[in-house]
Amino acid sequence: MPVQILMVCLGNICRSPLAEGILASKLPKDKFRVDSAGTGSWHIGHTPDERSIATAKKNGLDISNQRGRQFSSSDFDTFDYIFVMDSSNYETVISLAKSQEHKDKVRMILDELFPNENVDVPDPYFGLPNGFNMVYQMLNEVCDVISEKLIAKHQ
Ligand code: 4NP
Repeated sequence: MPVQILMVCLGNICRSPLAEGILASKLPKDKFRVDSAGTGSWHIGHTPDERSIATAKKNGLDISNQRGRQFSSSDFDTFDYIFVMDSSNYETVISLAKSQEHKDKVRMILDELFPNENVDVPDPYFGLPNGFNMVYQMLNEVCDVISEKLIAKHQ
């Protein structure tokens, strides 16, 4: 069984598809599986936002085959680690947890860079175009830390 990691944002079209693509590119595929989901239902079945696809492509990643899906409480059973992009996602996901074991799987992704500071990955959906580059840089930096930790822990 691979170690399973889930990236969660609101729409599952901007931030978490980038996070999925970036982390997957840093982990060996035989041992790890990375997926993403949104807490909202607006974009079920949709491709990622074209700005996320373009930002990934500029950095050598193809995320265009991803399709949006909504986070479900069964994801707590499937996934070993659940990384959320912001504190609103955190509240929503935690509210669906049925046990402490489930809650312990959930962490704010940027806590891996700034422990206990609860820093959000800002939602770039309604923002300036450069927001996507900023989000990419943040996620790339934190996924370096996460991938190193995961590989060390599960080798
Ligand atoms: P994401 O961005 O959570 O990074 O995917 C959003 C995309 C769409 C919406 C909100 C956030 N929306 O309201 O449709």
